[in-house]
Amino acid sequence: MQRLDKHHLAFTEYLSGKLSPAPLDELRPGRILELGCGSGAWPIQATTQLPAAQILAADRSPLPNRFLPANISFQMADLAKEGDFKPDHFFDIVHARFVFCHVSNTHDAFRRLAQLVRPGGLLLIEDINALSYFETAGPVSRRDHYISMMKQSCDERGADMEFGRKTPDLIRALDDFPDVQVQKMSMPFGVNGPDDALNHLGPATKKFYIGTVDSVAEYLAPRGFTREMALKYREELENDSVDVYCCRARRALASD
Ligand SMILES: C[S@@+](CC[C@H](N)C(=O)[O-])C[C@H]1O[C@@H](n2cnc3c(N)ncnc32)[C@H](O)[C@@H]1O
Repeated sequence: MQRLDKHHLAFTEYLSGKLSPAPLDELRPGRILELGCGSGAWPIQATTQLPAAQILAADRSPLPNRFLPANISFQMADLAKEGDFKPDHFFDIVHARFVFCHVSNTHDAFRRLAQLVRPGGLLLIEDINALSYFETAGPVSRRDHYISMMKQSCDERGADMEFGRKTPDLIRALDDFPDVQVQKMSMPFGVNGPDDALNHLGPATKKFYIGTVDSVAEYLAPRGFTREMALKYREELENDSVDVYCCRARRALASD
């Protein structure tokens, strides 16, 4: 959870303190659904920037024990499963950051949950293409090691590691989100150069992305990935970056 908080701080610093590259106050949102809220850092910041909003934060893991402003409520939910949200329960904004790429049967979950945006409301999705850096990465990270093992593991449960790259087309394929705006950025894993915000984001992203060496090694041990490989993988990431796609789409009104 500390990892997620630190990454949230570095990511919003990179966005000049904003919650999202999208201008959020244009709607004066009353109800926001935050999918896969993690540590709660995004909804907590949202209550200060959008004080009139009621925020429902959902995750399959509980929130850490921390102070929550009164306008946030939390719901345990597995986004891969139907039934946690009523289909006619609409929100002015539905937001998910770095979440859908983890969710089993990603595309089905995404299509189902996008329907919770009210007509005229905003869908905001920020996600990665976890395959983007493997062409430039070192030998342990490459397709014959880490990538192929992670991909096997994700494929087995229908989780899409490239979800970020595909998000614009998946939104366009929904009938009622006609305009999709996309901002692509490169999120570094190391210290990059003269931009302070990127230099803060790099180390935070590396920790966010890997967790601990032991957790990577444990997760992939059944596929033959060793702790030594996990250490090497962490080292190799230093000079790389991962593509992030920030997508924003307004749901059409019946009158549009
Ligand atoms: C990488 S973290 C991102 C957290 C937060 N959105 C952020 O940007 O700091 C991914 C989050 O998605 C949640 N998650 C993954 N799969 C999920 C699922 N099937 N249902 C609900 N939450 C899920 C995890 O528990 C975790 O909190």
